[in-house]
Amino acid sequence: MKIAIMGAMPEEIEPIISKLDAVTKTYYGENTYYEGTYHGKDVVVAYSKIGKVFATLTATILIEKFACTHLLFSGVAGAISNELSIGDLVIATGLSQHDLDITAFGHPFGYVPEGEVCITTDKNLRNLAKKVAQEKSLTLKEGNIATGDQFVADETRKNWIGSTFQADALEMEGAAVAVVCKALNVPFFILRAISDSADMDASFNFDTFLDSSAKISADFILSMVDELQSI
Ligand code: ADE
Repeated sequence: MKIAIMGAMPEEIEPIISKLDAVTKTYYGENTYYEGTYHGKDVVVAYSKIGKVFATLTATILIEKFACTHLLFSGVAGAISNELSIGDLVIATGLSQHDLDITAFGHPFGYVPEGEVCITTDKNLRNLAKKVAQEKSLTLKEGNIATGDQFVADETRKNWIGSTFQADALEMEGAAVAVVCKALNVPFFILRAISDSADMDASFNFDTFLDSSAKISADFILSMVDELQSI
């Protein structure tokens, strides 16, 4: 078992890298990959940079070059659901691309031929997360996450994404990771802690809560690594 842990921004992976032992750095594909161990388990950690294209590149490299067998994503998201507040943890059941649009050809939003609108995450990893949350008495919400190359700071756009994709949160990388892991048959898991509500205050709240929410997510991911056996 070799576990990939991925974020999009340095703030999302720094709390993880700082806890690793025997770290070595490899520069590849214009990015840095941190190999090390966490309580004896082999991990490879990287941040992709923001957005679907960079996320696709990094997820592919983690699997194809570093031979990772599981991929865990840690980071922050904007809330769509009113039940999600800043700092809350949400795990993705399924992920969609909210900015994928060939509706001009009669297809639904988020769909291209031979793809699927919503890609489901690994059930075993979701169940493991629920077990960890229970053991630590943490509240973990589960829902669909919508991904797009857009920082959403607009109530109308956010509500459209919510109703079109039955999404509870939104971010900019998850569905890209889902496409890669599904195609390459690697079990994957997407965890986010809420940094903002994708509304007019989103950019201010994002800047204010990025570090604290990223750490909440990172700490939870490390607890999962502790409990991850060969599932
Ligand atoms: N990640 C965190 N907040 C976000 C937002 N409002 N839009 C897109 N991605 C985000």
